[in-house]
Amino acid sequence: METAIGLGKSRRLPSAGATGKTNPMAAPQLRPETIGFELPDEAATASLAQGLAALVRLGDVIALFGELGSGKTTFARAFINALPRPDETSEPDPPTGAPEEVPSPTFTLLQAYERAPATVWHFDLYRLERPDDVYELGFEEALAEGIVLIEWPERLGPLLPAERLELRFGFAESADARRASLIGTGAWSRRLRNLAAP
Ligand SMILES: Nc1ncnc2c1ncn2[C@@H]1O[C@H](COP(=O)(O)OP(=O)(O)OP(=O)(O)O)[C@@H](O)[C@H]1O
Ligand SMILES: [Mg+2]
Repeated sequence: METAIGLGKSRRLPSAGATGKTNPMAAPQLRPETIGFELPDEAATASLAQGLAALVRLGDVIALFGELGSGKTTFARAFINALPRPDETSEPDPPTGAPEEVPSPTFTLLQAYERAPATVWHFDLYRLERPDDVYELGFEEALAEGIVLIEWPERLGPLLPAERLELRFGFAESADARRASLIGTGAWSRRLRNLAAP
């Protein structure tokens, strides 16, 4: 099934706790929404990233889960390169400049990119020793003023914001194939539901 904005192959997965019925007393925005994607090659991962970049807003947190080599940085690179630089936003066309180098920030823990609608703060927390250490990297400013991508978000423990989009990458049968589950909590749950609406 194609999604409404053409993010590639997807199939709806049952949401946690979903019953198929609407309870008017429940707070539907609190129920996580999950969508599964098959990513047969790197281009599919890039296309998923581009689709999500078109939806992103200031203050968004995207947590990228997955083992070493599962595609987190590949996704982040395509996501960042899909967003225009601030001086390009008056242009009607998508950015035409050469894509910016987006290295894996593993050794620096953080790279920031000036983009519209906001600076993208790309954290790779693989080497973070304690969750609190993230504050030394400007985490609060990132949450308040930026768009936040986090590789190895499990390193944050309880500091991982509750309202977030999670991408969970996994390996598939062929060397170039991956799978991703998108899990939206809070307002992201509603946004994903709109995204996947047939
Ligand atoms: N469908 C695919 N999607 C994404 N990457 C793919 C795909 N198929 C093959 N690859 C390759 O897999 C590798 C993914 O590496 P990447 O650095 O993105 O992983 P990572 O999850 O960030 O790992 P790490 O935890 O070490 O940071 C790249 O070499 C990429 O070319
Ligand atoms: Mg990486």
